[in-house]
Amino acid sequence: MSITLLSSPLQGFTDFRFRNAFHHYFGGIDTFYAPYIRLNGKLKIKTSYQNDLQPENNTTLTIIPQVMTNSAEEFLFVVKYVQSLGYKELNWNLGCPYPMVTKSGMGSGLICQPEKINDILKKAHEESDITVSMKMRLGYESPSEIIESFKVLDQYPLKNVAIHARLGKQLYKGGVDLDGFQKCIETTKHKLYYNGDITTVDAFKNRQECFPSIDHFMIGRGLIADPFLPQMIKANTTEYPKDRWKTFKAFHDTIYTDYDAYLQGPTPIKMKMLGFWEFFAQSFSNPQKTYKKIKKAGNPQKYQAAVAEIFSSEERV
Ligand SMILES: Cc1cc2nc3c(=O)[nH]c(=O)nc-3n(C[C@H](O)[C@H](O)[C@H](O)COP(=O)(O)O)c2cc1C
Repeated sequence: MSITLLSSPLQGFTDFRFRNAFHHYFGGIDTFYAPYIRLNGKLKIKTSYQNDLQPENNTTLTIIPQVMTNSAEEFLFVVKYVQSLGYKELNWNLGCPYPMVTKSGMGSGLICQPEKINDILKKAHEESDITVSMKMRLGYESPSEIIESFKVLDQYPLKNVAIHARLGKQLYKGGVDLDGFQKCIETTKHKLYYNGDITTVDAFKNRQECFPSIDHFMIGRGLIADPFLPQMIKANTTEYPKDRWKTFKAFHDTIYTDYDAYLQGPTPIKMKMLGFWEFFAQSFSNPQKTYKKIKKAGNPQKYQAAVAEIFSSEERV
């Protein structure tokens, strides 16, 4: 069975600069979800979201925009916006676990409100011709929430439901609930995509064996921690390319240059790259030491020196 790999969005990480550089150096991802658009009460799309979705910034890749809202009016506003850019699909985020979001009844805090989900899907389907897909967790408190929500979801022609097989209240802690995901397969008529903790080729194979009917898999953090992962899954190999560190360094330098030009100033670029290194460090022999070296680098020159040292010492391992 041929498989489709999708990049699961990470707000603050997988914007167009990251996606384009990733695709140039590594590949292996068929479709990229853009991080969510959130409106914060006003019918206005922030410039950073606009930049992320502009067609001129996304010339080579297949991108699916995403919205996080609990309002039909906001949903339809974002539909119009993404349609004006030429997008045909909008993904709805019912997965975000952060208390600021869930307490206001959004993200995974909305899964337990099937009537509200119904209101929004009804309006979206009556008042627009956009293709809707969902990205959900199993629930906030209990996996029974998603099962209950399928009574509503199954009434709509959704393209697919992608499920991060955790509960909102877990945040990112604890394991994924594979039985919970299996129950979803048995309950809904919709096409499901699996998401959660695919961090190695073996972890991918394990999920594939657990769920033989699933052919779409989404990778989030694992793709940033090890950008070679998608191409290695596709090639069914655990062997890295010979020029692994050279390619990784070239990728690093590309995103550094792009973000540096955009962010302007030593502190924002340092914070941006530190965020990436929390993930990148996991690819190196000593993740903690690697991250510490980057954290300690007090200015751009020291940062560049630390990066050069990290990559060249890894070449020697
Ligand atoms: C920092 C961060 C930001 C995220 N931003 C989004 C987002 O914008 N939209 C979304 O649907 N999921 C978001 N997620 C969730 C991931 O897409 C993914 O579902 C989750 O990390 C589980 O998959 P993984 O184990 O492959 O990372 C985010 C996760 C993290 C850690």
